[in-house]
Amino acid sequence: MQVYNEDHGLLCVSREKLLNEKNARQGKTSLNLRELINALHEAFKTEHVNIDEIKNLMASYKSNPSEWKIYAKFDRYRYTRNLVDEGNGKFNLMVLCWGEGHGSGIHDHANAHCVMKILQGELCETRYRWPGKCTKEEDPEELKELERNTLGLNEICYINDSLGLHRVENPSAVNPAVSLHLYSPPFSSCSVFNKLTGQKTSCKVTFWSKYGEKRSREIQGARCPEDN
Ligand SMILES: [Fe+2]
Repeated sequence: MQVYNEDHGLLCVSREKLLNEKNARQGKTSLNLRELINALHEAFKTEHVNIDEIKNLMASYKSNPSEWKIYAKFDRYRYTRNLVDEGNGKFNLMVLCWGEGHGSGIHDHANAHCVMKILQGELCETRYRWPGKCTKEEDPEELKELERNTLGLNEICYINDSLGLHRVENPSAVNPAVSLHLYSPPFSSCSVFNKLTGQKTSCKVTFWSKYGEKRSREIQGARCPEDN
């Protein structure tokens, strides 16, 4: 029967989709951007997030510029954060665009998980140890560098506050870079640290664009000055 065949067909598609997502969670297959977003929504439905699954999903996406270019909006002077998906309030997925030589300040992650993936170019991640308790102006403490890694196309890295602070920069003077970031839970402010003194400043984080649409000038202007 026609109806049976259609149902059967739908079931097959659905099973195939679930199997594909399951394999992606285990890092066994690759996903396109839409499939990645759908799989992330599934993975975040449970109360307890398995961060290894999230890392596998992010690793399962193979960069395809035709899928993410609508979010890749650059600024001439500093890196930009462009929201892709709000993850039903559980996570933020965003595309960050780094012009030649652009970099972030040294920052924490507001008790959130952060998974970062390179979509184009290279990014250098430098990790630092948290400053000690004494961070008063008269008692400066230079932040100690823990490690430095350069990430290439499709590579991912993970950080949370228990692993330290980090700074991310595009080391190239000629090539831009683009990265995909997942933060969970989402946060609207974090701390930025002075490398020489360890002093921290609270900093609002904002979006340069949302869902491929550019934001108003006021919102763009509210970015933290230490953010580049
Ligand atoms: Fe970060």
